[in-house]
Amino acid sequence: MAISRKTVVVAIANQKGGVGKTTTAVNLAAALSKMKRAALVVDLDPQANATSGLGLQRRQGVSLYRVLTGEADVADMISATKWENINAIPSEVDLAGVEIELARRDDRIAAVRNALARVKESGAFDYVIIDCPPSLGILMTASLAAADTVVVPMQSEYYALEGLTVITSLIDRLAVTGAAPGLALGGILMTMFDGRTRLSADVVSEVSGHFGDLVFKSVIPRNVRISEAPSFGQPAVFYDPSCRGAEAYRAFAREFAARFPTRGQAAAPAAEPAQEPAAEPEQQEPEPQEAPAGAGQE
Ligand SMILES: Nc1ncnc2c1ncn2[C@@H]1O[C@H](COP(=O)(O)OP(=O)(O)O)[C@@H](O)[C@H]1O
Ligand SMILES: [Mg+2]
Repeated sequence: MAISRKTVVVAIANQKGGVGKTTTAVNLAAALSKMKRAALVVDLDPQANATSGLGLQRRQGVSLYRVLTGEADVADMISATKWENINAIPSEVDLAGVEIELARRDDRIAAVRNALARVKESGAFDYVIIDCPPSLGILMTASLAAADTVVVPMQSEYYALEGLTVITSLIDRLAVTGAAPGLALGGILMTMFDGRTRLSADVVSEVSGHFGDLVFKSVIPRNVRISEAPSFGQPAVFYDPSCRGAEAYRAFAREFAARFPTRGQAAAPAAEPAQEPAAEPEQQEPEPQEAPAGAGQE
């Protein structure tokens, strides 16, 4: 870990499941790696979808859990993936018990930040991307408190502004109380956009009306290749680089990197966000033969 750079820690969070958090975490890492940015994905969801989505096996004893309990060194939990510039701290089933462990501790809100402190200080990564669990528990709160910024993926198919207020007020409370000074909502990413429905367009414009420029210009379309990729242990950006989903995630990554530059990147080129996808080209998307891994796990 000789290289030293400023590391940006981003939490990908939404207390709702199935909104595209994990898909965003792994594809953001993939797209950033193609931009020669080193990313560390930290899988903090006991379901371990980011772990398998990056082609890694769950292994007993390899996750942030033992770092949180003080039994292990964070450096020993960092696992290489088969791609250059993407490393991960995998998840394991034991993480499900971490809420109980943390609940007893006074430093629980700072626990994830403390566990990741040496990674951040090492400057080995440009971006640490935390894939948060889908709940409002201590682990998610501690994940937010470990972050410099938060990206909230939101499904373009449901009116969920109410849910958004829950997470934005949690972020504000962490910042205001001093538990996570400087923490702010970094952006909202609209996912699963379906250009064939009025609803998707209505939801995007309603969210943009409330949150303005906080909404990333890049919108992720509903794309069957994105949902197939996890069963091959790959982010869509690698599984099918030419699919519309991969293209959208690359545009999002450019926009993200321009909004959150790391050291030496201050002059990052202006993002070229993808325009709102008009419609899926595959009008009649065939259903995948087998349900992709990760489907139906909510
Ligand atoms: N843009 C998309 N198009 C099609 N399927 C998607 C898209 N984004 C996510 N999915 C699929 O939807 C499911 C939920 O996404 P996921 O990223 O796991 O959500 P979360 O982490 O918020 O629970 C997964 O099966 C995933 O493959
Ligand atoms: Mg997930």
